[in-house]
Amino acid sequence: MPNTCVVGMQWGDEAKARIVDVLAADADLVVRYQGGANAGHTVIVEDEKYIFHLVPTGILHAGKTCVVGNGLVVDPRGLLEELADLRERGVDDEGRLWLSLRCQIVMPWHRALEAAAEAARGSEKIGTTLRGIGPCYSDKIARTGLRMADLIRPHNLRKIIDGKLDFVNPVLTKVYGADPLDGDSIYNEYAAIGAKLKPMACDTIKLLNDAVSSGKSVLFEGAQGCLLDIDFGTYPYVTSSNTTACGISPGTGLAPKHIDRVLGVLKAYCTRVGAGPFPTELVEQPFQAADSLDWQAERLPHIGAQLQTKGGEFGATTGRPRRCGWFDAVAARYTTTLNGADAVALTKLDVLSGQPVVKICNAYECDGVRYEGYLPATVDELDRCEPIYEEMPGWQEEISDARTFEQLPAAAQAYVSRIEELIGVSAEMISVGPERDQLIIRNGGWHVQA
Ligand code: GDP
Ligand code: IMO
Ligand code: MG
Repeated sequence: MPNTCVVGMQWGDEAKARIVDVLAADADLVVRYQGGANAGHTVIVEDEKYIFHLVPTGILHAGKTCVVGNGLVVDPRGLLEELADLRERGVDDEGRLWLSLRCQIVMPWHRALEAAAEAARGSEKIGTTLRGIGPCYSDKIARTGLRMADLIRPHNLRKIIDGKLDFVNPVLTKVYGADPLDGDSIYNEYAAIGAKLKPMACDTIKLLNDAVSSGKSVLFEGAQGCLLDIDFGTYPYVTSSNTTACGISPGTGLAPKHIDRVLGVLKAYCTRVGAGPFPTELVEQPFQAADSLDWQAERLPHIGAQLQTKGGEFGATTGRPRRCGWFDAVAARYTTTLNGADAVALTKLDVLSGQPVVKICNAYECDGVRYEGYLPATVDELDRCEPIYEEMPGWQEEISDARTFEQLPAAAQAYVSRIEELIGVSAEMISVGPERDQLIIRNGGWHVQA
C-alpha cells in the first residue's frame, strides 16, 4: 500500500479510527504524528469496543509495528494504563510499539496549569479535554519541555522537575490560588514510569526512514480534526498541534515526499465538542407561535438532539455531549484544500436515516462577503456567518446493511454524490455503522490502488 494519511477534516471525532482500522490491514506500520491523549479513537471488533488515546489503532492488527512519533505530547501515566488495559484484553504490544525519544512528556504541572487556566477563563473557556495538551506544547515551543529521552534518564528528570517547579508553583499558588506540586513525589512516580517505558523508547526517525527505505508501507493516523489545527482552525478554539497532513513531517521525521496519499475523513453531518464557532450547529429552535400542538411535537426533540442520540455523539475521551449540525461544505472544501486530500471517507451516513430533509451548507455570508471555500480568520466573523443551505430529500430506510453504493436508497446516493461534487473529490469509503464490516468500499478499494 502507498504511504497513506488518514486525517479528520472537521472538528475531530469523524470516525477516523474505524477507517484506520480497515486500512491498517494493508500497512506495515501505523504511526501517530501529533496530539496526545486528547484523542479518543473508537474501534469496534465484534463485541469488543476499544478506545485509543495514545496507542496507534493499528495495534489491534497482529504483527503491525506501531509508532508514537516525536510530534506527540505523551502522558506516560495514561499510556501505561492504556497498555495495561489492552494487555488484559489480550492485545499484545510486545516488540511492536515504539515511542520516540523526542516526544514531549505531559507532566502533572501541565494538567494543573491547564485546569487552573480553564477555570479562570470562566465563560470564555475553550472547553479543552484537560489532558495538559496546550501547556505541554507551550513548553515544547518555549524550549522548556521534558522529552522521553529525559523521562528515562533519572538525572535529567530530577533536574527538570526541580527547575520547573521553581516557576510553576508560584504561578499555581499566587496567580491561580491552587495547590503547589511536590517535586519528590512527582520524581518518584515518573522515574518509575520512565523505567517501565524505557524498553519501548527509540529513535523513531531512524526506524521510520529505514522502514520506508526498505519498501515498507506506513499508515499515518491523524488525531483531532483540521478545524482544530493550531494554524488553520478556528483559533483560539483549537488544539495545540498541526492536525492536518502538514503535521506529518515535523511529527515523524519522514520527508513530505514519503506521504503518497491523503484520505480525508468527513462525517455525513458535523459535530464539535468544546467551545468555539460552529456555523451549521443545530441549536434548539426558539419557541415559535405554532398552529397546533402537533406542530411542536414534530419538532421535539430537535434535529441536533436526534443526531446526537442516534449517532451516539458523546466524547470518547471526556464523555461530553457533542454539538451536532448539518454538513458544512464550505469547511469541507477548505480542509480538502489544506490537506490536498485525494479522496474522502464519508462516515456515519446511517445516522441521517429517518430525516425527511437533509441540508448541506454550501456558502456563508458575513458582512456582505460570501465564503465558499475559505473561512474568515476570526471567530467573531465566524460567529456572525449566516449559513446558506441547500436542501435535499432525506431517506427513511435504515442503511447499515448496505455494502455497495447501489444498495443505498436513491436519496442517500444523491446526498453522497452532491457532497462529492461540492468538495471535488470522491468518497471512496462510506461507513454505515460502527462495526468493521459496516462499510461500503467503492472502486475496488482505494487502499489497494496505487
Ligand atoms: P475518531 O476520534 O475520529 O476516531 O472518532 P470517535 O471514535 O471519537 O467517534 C466515532 C464514533 O462513531 C465511535 O463511537 C464509533 O464507534 C462510531 N462510528 C464509527 N463509524 C460509524 C458509522 O458509520 N455509523 C455509526 N452509527 N457509528 C459509527
Ligand atoms: P479525536 O482524535 C474532538 C477539542 C477539545 C477542545 C479543543 C482543545 O478523538 O478526534 P485540547 O484538549 O486539545 O487542548 O482541547 O479541541 N478536541 C477534540 N475534539 N476530538 C478530538 O480528538 C479532540 N481533541 C481535542 O474538545 O474543544
Ligand atoms: Mg474521537
